[in-house]
Amino acid sequence: MKQDPIDLAELELLAIGAAKAAGALIVDERPDDLGVSAKSSPTDAVTVMDQRSQDLLVHYFADRRPLDGVYGEEEGGKRSRSGITWVVDPIDGTVNYLYGNPAYAVSVAAVRGDPATRGSWTPIAGAVYNPVSGELFHAHEGGGARLTVGVSSRPLSVRHPEHLGMALVGTGFGYAAERREAEAAALVEILPRIRDIRREGSAALDLCRVACGRLDAHYEVGLHVWDMAAGLLVAREAGAVAGGLVDEHPSHDLAWVSAPSVAQDLAELVRRVTLAGGTYQS
Ligand code: IPD
Ligand code: CA
Repeated sequence: MKQDPIDLAELELLAIGAAKAAGALIVDERPDDLGVSAKSSPTDAVTVMDQRSQDLLVHYFADRRPLDGVYGEEEGGKRSRSGITWVVDPIDGTVNYLYGNPAYAVSVAAVRGDPATRGSWTPIAGAVYNPVSGELFHAHEGGGARLTVGVSSRPLSVRHPEHLGMALVGTGFGYAAERREAEAAALVEILPRIRDIRREGSAALDLCRVACGRLDAHYEVGLHVWDMAAGLLVAREAGAVAGGLVDEHPSHDLAWVSAPSVAQDLAELVRRVTLAGGTYQS
């Protein structure tokens, strides 16, 4: 089967359609019993709606772009035959979803390359949709980032804090107790050097918050491609700089996204404290 050549704006529209459809599903069809089970640790929850949302996304792309792959947080997915893979987080912020805290999102990104291999994937179009607030963050490569709510839409750009000491920084914590110990030790070093810290519980939304200036930077150890692919593109298209532990590729052992004015100092700090705590295992 032949597919049309890549139209980035078209991929962005598909990402938006998918994120909104899955977002509506997880809100409208939320059951009283979420069927919670544990994944990597007892606090790492997954609900029946995470899987239903992923199933919807898999079918959505199978119908519209049958040669593309799908790579997501939950069961199901397929290899790409087009060079493009849809990297999906069917609910990012599952613990918030479970508790009814309105900071969760569906994250959908079209990625060029191999999302399963560190440093060899690039998001080229994507959307992050919070179905409670109705906020839709979206972008395609080279097209700028936008926040759309209902019929109003505006371009996004990062803030320009004067120095790291004035930067409001987001982070997140892993689900394993040992990992959290290292993250707490890292925070002891970081907190006195920044304006303040925020931990809201959805990495996808955190990266979009950098894009729209609600945060100056975000860093985290242990993120997966599905947590960050779409948010990373939105942040970059809004002017943010990103990197990982050793190079410009955000990855599992460290991902940071920052306003350019503090990026160098932020990167130096989070790399140093992450290395001191030992690199991510698992
Ligand atoms: C989690 C959220 C959280 C981050 C964790 C992620 P999930 O994703 O993005 O903010 O700190 O690292 O695993 O489990 O809710 O999809
Ligand atoms: Ca996630």
